[in-house]
Amino acid sequence: MTESSSQRYQFFDQHPEITNFRADIVQGLSAAEPYISPKYFYDETGSRLFEEICNCEEYYPTRTEVSIIRHNIDDIVKILGQDCLLIEPGSGDSYKVRLLLDALRPIAYLPIDISKRYLQGEAQKLAAEFTWLNVHAICADFTGKLELPYHVESTNKVAFFPGSTIGNFAPEQAVGVLEEIKMMVGEDGGLLIGVDLQKESGILNAAYNDKEGYTAQFNKNLLARINRELGADFNLDQFDHYAFYNEDEYRIEMHLESKKDQQVVIDGQALQFKNEQSILTEYSHKYSIESFQKLARQAGFKSIKTWVDKDGLFSVHYLEVVVAEAL
Ligand code: AVI
Repeated sequence: MTESSSQRYQFFDQHPEITNFRADIVQGLSAAEPYISPKYFYDETGSRLFEEICNCEEYYPTRTEVSIIRHNIDDIVKILGQDCLLIEPGSGDSYKVRLLLDALRPIAYLPIDISKRYLQGEAQKLAAEFTWLNVHAICADFTGKLELPYHVESTNKVAFFPGSTIGNFAPEQAVGVLEEIKMMVGEDGGLLIGVDLQKESGILNAAYNDKEGYTAQFNKNLLARINRELGADFNLDQFDHYAFYNEDEYRIEMHLESKKDQQVVIDGQALQFKNEQSILTEYSHKYSIESFQKLARQAGFKSIKTWVDKDGLFSVHYLEVVVAEAL
């Protein structure tokens, strides 16, 4: 890192509670309807596989969202206004924010991520790349209570939450996540958010069953991770990747389905899986423009503008916090 980037880079550690992987996995897999939380997809291998998924022909969300932002960047900047404090919950590799920075010129960018080493590396890279940008990285769990380390009262705060990550939360939880973001940006604050749209099931089923098999590997990596980190003995060949669009619930469901009656030992504990029994690994909820705006209203946001690609596959919304009427 250069001297000038180190002056512009600050790091705040809010010491997020590290969840207990072992206890979570054993509890989820012992349930009557076994599940594994999708947050466990993203170890090093899973993050690499997710990048591959994003480049797959069938997986339209990433490239569509990127093209919506590129095509509408002038409009986005006009509406968000320059000189905001730009906050990104769950920033990961800060890839998509790079599309906004030069045009938006925020007074500071605040990436928030739970993984300390990853966050430090990515945030420092960004500070070196954008030689004018203040980067104040915050290690925290954005789904829990979070206080920004400082406030610039005169500056409007805008959160950026791309990728339709909001779809990985059940609608009631999604309202809670949006409420947390609302607390973060405060009165006059805004949220630029990417949301995948409801569509014909063929497109959705293909997106989660790519021909190259990256999504299947991504799903099965959960079992490989449990083997690696918890010394379990899952046989990956004895589980099938199973993903489908549930049209009644407007969501993709991802499962790992047992191909036979089998026993798996985790942490000295034997767990039984019946033939065709499934382990739920992810929901990915899809919205219409209206159903998402309704969800956002429940969390206290109003819709200012929505951008959609020409095929109506994906949407990017700008929302603002509804100010409570003074009594
Ligand atoms: C991160 N999230 C928005 C992705 C999605 O589409 O729900 C995760 C994913 N799962 C399978 N493919 C991609």
